[in-house]
Amino acid sequence: MPPRARLPSPPPSQLLLLLLLSMAFAAQAGQPAEGHDYSDALRKSILFFEGQRSGKLPPDQRLRWRGDSALRDGAAEGVDLTGGYYDAGDNIKFGFPMAFTATLLSWSVIDFGRNMGDQLGEALRAVRWATDYILKATAVPETVYVQVGDAFRDHGCWERPEDMDTPRTVYKVNRAHPGSDVAGESAAALAAASIVFRFRDPAYSRRLLDRAVEVFEFADKYRGAYSSSLRPAVCPFYCDFDGYQDELLWGAAWLHKASRRREYREYILRNEQILGAGDTINEFGWDNKHAGINVLISKEVLMGKAAYLESFKNNADSFICSLLPGMSTLQVQYSPGGLLYKTGGSNMQHVTSLSFLLLAYSNYLSHSGTAVQCGGSAASPAELRRLAKRQVDYILGDNPLGMSYMVGYGAKFPRRIHHRGSSLPSVRTHPARIGCKAGSKYYLSPAPNPNLLVGAVVGGPNTTDAFPDSRPYFQQSEPTTYINAPFVGLLAYFSAHSHP
Ligand SMILES: *[C@@H]1O[C@H](CO)[C@@H](O)[C@H](O)[C@H]1NC(C)=O
Repeated sequence: MPPRARLPSPPPSQLLLLLLLSMAFAAQAGQPAEGHDYSDALRKSILFFEGQRSGKLPPDQRLRWRGDSALRDGAAEGVDLTGGYYDAGDNIKFGFPMAFTATLLSWSVIDFGRNMGDQLGEALRAVRWATDYILKATAVPETVYVQVGDAFRDHGCWERPEDMDTPRTVYKVNRAHPGSDVAGESAAALAAASIVFRFRDPAYSRRLLDRAVEVFEFADKYRGAYSSSLRPAVCPFYCDFDGYQDELLWGAAWLHKASRRREYREYILRNEQILGAGDTINEFGWDNKHAGINVLISKEVLMGKAAYLESFKNNADSFICSLLPGMSTLQVQYSPGGLLYKTGGSNMQHVTSLSFLLLAYSNYLSHSGTAVQCGGSAASPAELRRLAKRQVDYILGDNPLGMSYMVGYGAKFPRRIHHRGSSLPSVRTHPARIGCKAGSKYYLSPAPNPNLLVGAVVGGPNTTDAFPDSRPYFQQSEPTTYINAPFVGLLAYFSAHSHP
């Protein structure tokens, strides 16, 4: 039997919060009278990334139930691909979502690092854990290592990363087998991180930017989707459904922001039309960068630096209008309890990434003293912030079930998350190996997970605000790094501005 869940006793600040919460719940379910402890949530949202670490763990690793894993990744190919993050509840390193995670963690620090207080150092470490790996994955010119591990074999086991014995097959893109999507996103991540480290570690920052330039050149010169050449390995997991053009533009936008070089500005102008119109323009996630490109480039327009990029701002405006209830004919859906909802599983990835864009855009608007025009009415920056805060508060517990969707935050949170390491006994308490199929009994057990993956935000409730808290419902109970990455920025902002 797995050990019973061990809950840490809450620190005094949390006890007070619990008291306030329970008082509020007595009055009106799910609507606490006082705000959330955003600083606590911020700390936890970053701590989560330690639970996803692959490779040799450093002595200051705080999530102690994890151990070293995958120490020979890349060795069969004669390259060092140790490190990086497992993307979710399995033990594969998927380069495409990992790079997107690094880009969004970097954007969180760029826009909201000043709000992070004593958590800034931890956030920088979380970025660097990803970028150190992306530097390894792009060390061979005109090659990007895009995945380590056989996803079908891995998914056939319920094994701790420390015990993993499935094939660690290495997949790469190169001139003959291009992957402009994953290479473009890797370039974006390296460029964004170069901004993060510009004054904090100039030598590292220069390395990141130089590599971003090279990787982007490769992505642009040898065009193609990685899921054409690597389909059996990467699909249906992180298949590029959406084309690679958006990653090229996204990579150019970050390179422009990081380097201010004219060639990237010209690239953006030449390729402006690829964004077109239609639904996909309102998406933002590991596969689709459209709304992110528009918001990122709009900052330049709003700062009066790039009036020639006005079309991006028009797109960003209509994207924002589609999120604001009643402000647009093309309207995103909300659950009865008020959660932004998109179909396709792991809904929280949309909630956190779109809320991040709302908040980032509201700040850009505030600085330029403008509002968004939605048809006949205007939406103020404060309205955008309120909607973003509403989504954050829903995740933290203001919802019909009165539960937090972040593990270890609040009194009630997901206990049976779809995560191998969290649900199997820790290597510290159970050093003996647990084989591929021997883990099944833990997967099927109704018992709570023994190891708290503190800070993990799961896929979340369905359209009717229901949540089964059950491992097999992976679309609802699995955490991912790209759900948390934009959440770090949101929590940083609200920890510094709890009463906007
Ligand atoms: C949401 O989940 C609940 C509980 O698991 C279920 O009864 C309901 O049918 C689901 N709703 C939708 C729209 O899937």
